Amino acid sequence: MDNETVSKSTMPRIGDKAPDFEALTTTGPIKFSEYIKGGWTIMFSHPADFTPVCTTEMSAFAVNKKWFAERNTKLIGLSIDSIHSHLAWVNNVRKNTKVYMDFPIIADLDMKVANLYGMLHPGESATAAVRAVFYIDPNGIIRLIMYYPLNVGRNMDEIQRVLVALQTADENGCALPVNWRPGTKVIVPPPKDLEEMEERINNPDYDEKVDFYLVKKSL
Ligand code: BEZ
Repeated sequence: MDNETVSKSTMPRIGDKAPDFEALTTTGPIKFSEYIKGGWTIMFSHPADFTPVCTTEMSAFAVNKKWFAERNTKLIGLSIDSIHSHLAWVNNVRKNTKVYMDFPIIADLDMKVANLYGMLHPGESATAAVRAVFYIDPNGIIRLIMYYPLNVGRNMDEIQRVLVALQTADENGCALPVNWRPGTKVIVPPPKDLEEMEERINNPDYDEKVDFYLVKKSL
């Protein structure tokens, strides 16, 4: 990648407003700020169409599209390939496996979106996006980012787990401990002042108390 391309690349961070863009996708042109309105969005990049790991991952997103929709979450993929390549790949995967990747996939041939979202990691590949996942909340804020290298597929269980974790944390004002799963205890946020510290110490309703700063409850 030349210096000019690298210097154009930005790296959004958790808590940032999701950068807006317009792009061509397999379901038509989009303006991203319009697409993400009204719910959660997961945007994920894959290195290239017609490659094996990508096929397994993108198929897994397609198979779980309804699960995401039930959680008010839209999917959108991206790679540095043309619309023609995307369409041929989608059709080929459907023919071979009966899985239809019918969520929008951005054709980012000029790498505009990949650069905007820091999906190009030149030490890994100068021409292909790494396996990135961006979780964008209903306020258009990036809430969680994953990056995987070209040769390791992502984990769909984890992709789903953290979506539920983010939504649970928002709905209940709580935090989630290591390996949290829906239905297990959540963490009461650590106290910010003495009054909250006393509350954590004295409230008998909590399910588990290690000390005032590590308190768990059931939802
Ligand atoms: C794959 O999806 O299989 C893949 C893509 C790019 C580099 C290596 C593997």
